[in-house]
Amino acid sequence: GTGLNALAKAAGKLYFGTATDNGELSDAAYTAILDNNKEFGQITPANSMKWDATEPTRGTFTFSGGDQIANLAKANGQLLRGHNCVWYNQLPSWVSNGQFTAADLTTVIQNHCSTLVSHYKGQVYSWDVVNEPFNDDGTWRQDVFFNVLGTTYPAIALKAARAADPNAKLYINDYNIEQSGAKATAMLNLVKQLIADGVPIDGVGFQCHFIVGEVPGTFQTVLEQFTALGLEVAITELDIRTTTPASQSALAQQQKDYQSVVQACMNVDGCVGITVWDFTDKYSWVPSTFSGQGAACPWDQNLVKKLAYNGIVAAL
Ligand code: XIL
Repeated sequence: GTGLNALAKAAGKLYFGTATDNGELSDAAYTAILDNNKEFGQITPANSMKWDATEPTRGTFTFSGGDQIANLAKANGQLLRGHNCVWYNQLPSWVSNGQFTAADLTTVIQNHCSTLVSHYKGQVYSWDVVNEPFNDDGTWRQDVFFNVLGTTYPAIALKAARAADPNAKLYINDYNIEQSGAKATAMLNLVKQLIADGVPIDGVGFQCHFIVGEVPGTFQTVLEQFTALGLEVAITELDIRTTTPASQSALAQQQKDYQSVVQACMNVDGCVGITVWDFTDKYSWVPSTFSGQGAACPWDQNLVKKLAYNGIVAAL
């Protein structure tokens, strides 16, 4: 094979990519695959550009972890996805418990987004400016941003990011928006409103943390609803988990599931690329988050390609 990114580009996509994390970069067998830009033309830092990593105390920014990933992307000739500016999780307590007024929290968001995005200006293809704003029922997540600022906070963050790096594509990213339903509708309504208000927004990221055998049948239709608004879309955090140890039949179904997810992106012109949330089960976030589940990635614990890899290739 010629590699996932090479195949994706030959088929008209911008990239096939993967998340990675700083601690993994000392694993030479891992980086030998990560650095192969025929497999991966784009990388996303899984943790090191998040708020707790970049501004752990107010006004004190640390970019060492993020810089390591950004420098790696540059060295490898890979696109970089910034992740993320505003998210309720991995948020330092000085923000979540800050008891800010609306005016103060606006300044906090503007300063964080502006400083973070400026630091990587010119190095980032796309930023997840807002991550996971909605509950599964389509209501707004009751986090500090919504509780203090209501529905206005995405616009505050997006405008700050646009001013900081006018060439970066600005995204809102979420999970469980891949199927038609209340949460996808809430996201559609949000981006329609942002567009109507003249707020900078370029894309919507679909995380795609799926379960074997449960890829939503309406995924392509939902992607098309967003691209119809003139936005680009991307698959930003793909993995497809199963009960561990994985059975042979689960791994065979997983191959079909990877194929159908990638095919949905291939079928939609405005779907620019696909990112897996790390490529190997060795470093997947799934087992530590979903008890008893794992085996979610296209490479196994030993960095050997699984059937899932063939499923991706079949769609590209
Ligand atoms: C995960 C990381 O992979 C883990 O290492 C970390 O402990 C928790 O966060 N949605 C997102 C990502 O947007 O930032 C999350 O990443 C996975 C779910």
